[in-house]
Amino acid sequence: MTGGLQQSDTAPDVGSGAARASYPRTRRVRFRFADGPIGKYFVDDDIVFSHFVAGLSGGFPPGEESFIRSVRRFADQISDPGLRKRVAGFIGQESTHGQEHRRLNGRLIEMGYRVGWYDRRSVIRAQKWFEQKVHGHTHLAMTAAAEHYTAVLAERVLTSDELQALPGDPEVWNLINWHALEELEHKSVAFDVYRATGGSETRRIAVMAAMMALTLPFVLSSLAVSVACDRDARRRPLRLARETHRLLTGPLFRGLTPKLAQYLRPGFHPDDIDTTALLDRWRAELFGTDGALLDHLK
Ligand SMILES: [Fe+2]
Ligand SMILES: [Fe+2]
Repeated sequence: MTGGLQQSDTAPDVGSGAARASYPRTRRVRFRFADGPIGKYFVDDDIVFSHFVAGLSGGFPPGEESFIRSVRRFADQISDPGLRKRVAGFIGQESTHGQEHRRLNGRLIEMGYRVGWYDRRSVIRAQKWFEQKVHGHTHLAMTAAAEHYTAVLAERVLTSDELQALPGDPEVWNLINWHALEELEHKSVAFDVYRATGGSETRRIAVMAAMMALTLPFVLSSLAVSVACDRDARRRPLRLARETHRLLTGPLFRGLTPKLAQYLRPGFHPDDIDTTALLDRWRAELFGTDGALLDHLK
């Protein structure tokens, strides 16, 4: 399906037909989770926050594989060479994210987190069945909307001193920062494929409205189940209440709805939110001359 799509490993550049966008770069990285023990509550010794991050990590690999399938459904209709190159970078980045999160998820499962179900064969089968039942542009609109979620969260992670100051396992932080950087690098690719292949504004906005209605209940209920399955956590109801309040009013969730709702505006484009300077700073920080993750590149 992806015939002719080569993964880009070149410096950012401007693609024709997508003047504000750049080519996402596929970096083959490998994190070293096995090098040291990860504390059970690996984010700020916070039970709820740690379960939340574990749930995100559990959902990423199958979610990102669905994103890739949604874009590949339209690969044959993309004629713009710049966009084809960006799609190749998007696929390369998302598949690497999935691989590294699966490696982290293996550790999380050993630590007692119930994140294995996301990857269960029956769940993947149901996911693929659903994808085939909906219109290709609905599937792609779901990806474009999800990419807005990840871009908003990524921007928060990379700009918030409060989040960056949270104590946690350093290698998990490395993974989060690398993933956030690349989410911002490719934030408009699925969106531009959707537009270039004739996806309508009505469908794009309707899909996002539905996702905004469903996401919070899904996230909160899966978080509640995850915490409820944790015997140590169950014994501390007051701490759980305090930490849940702190998570929902903290730098990740505070003011999140208006940021997500920007996507509902007719004519919105992900590059309307300028993250160029932020990307430059983090590219240098992680992969520049003295980049913190240079030694993680394969
Ligand atoms: Fe990703
Ligand atoms: Fe993404």
